[in-house]
Amino acid sequence: MSTKIAPSILSADFSNLADELKKVKEAGAEYIHIDVMDGTFVPEITIGAPVVKSLRKVSDIIFDVHLMVEHPETQIKSFADAGADIITFHVETAKHPHRIIQQIHELGCKAGVALNPGTSLSMVEELIEDADMILIMTVNPGYAGQKFIDSMLGKIHMLYHMIEEMETECDIQVDGGINAETSVLVREAGANILVAGSAIYGAADVAQAIKDIRGKEIHHHHHHHED
Ligand code: DX5
Ligand code: ZN
Repeated sequence: MSTKIAPSILSADFSNLADELKKVKEAGAEYIHIDVMDGTFVPEITIGAPVVKSLRKVSDIIFDVHLMVEHPETQIKSFADAGADIITFHVETAKHPHRIIQQIHELGCKAGVALNPGTSLSMVEELIEDADMILIMTVNPGYAGQKFIDSMLGKIHMLYHMIEEMETECDIQVDGGINAETSVLVREAGANILVAGSAIYGAADVAQAIKDIRGKEIHHHHHHHED
């Protein structure tokens, strides 16, 4: 699967979002990653569906909405109506995750399930079949500019193999501390959608930063069990 780049809106200039979206789209990004925080699941509050709705009018880039909120089931419809393309909720916030995935699909969006660094893969094992994407957080959610947690590489690799064994299709997204250096590691481990905030919006040359994070194509060795 080819690598897709999702610049995180959290590191953009919030007073100038239309231009900030245009800038990364022209620079080659496939998605815009929209970080929604509720001040409860994570300390900060960012933006809600009304802002997404306004942005939808000025941009046709894919909206990848990362909900860092409690009770995500109460928010899904607003974000879908506002123009989200992909909606990701945290498994730590969901009592009935399959129902939320169904809800997202019924509204015509793709469904992602996110895990904090401290949350085991076993929490999403039963969801891989139905989800379109699993988001492995490589920092604890809440802030841009944090340090990549190296021990997440094993988790990404394990998820990659789980998906392969299940003979299903599911994107692996990573979020937190992604830059040109950590990009190589996560792509080798099996991630194919890379979120980056500070490494893209903090760069003097945004197009070059995206190119550097995208890197060279990595060929995975598929294991064929012959016995
Ligand atoms: C963190 C957010 C991320 C964040 C990434 O809570 O979910 O999307 O903006 O920022 P960087 O790439 O700077 O770690
Ligand atoms: Zn995010």
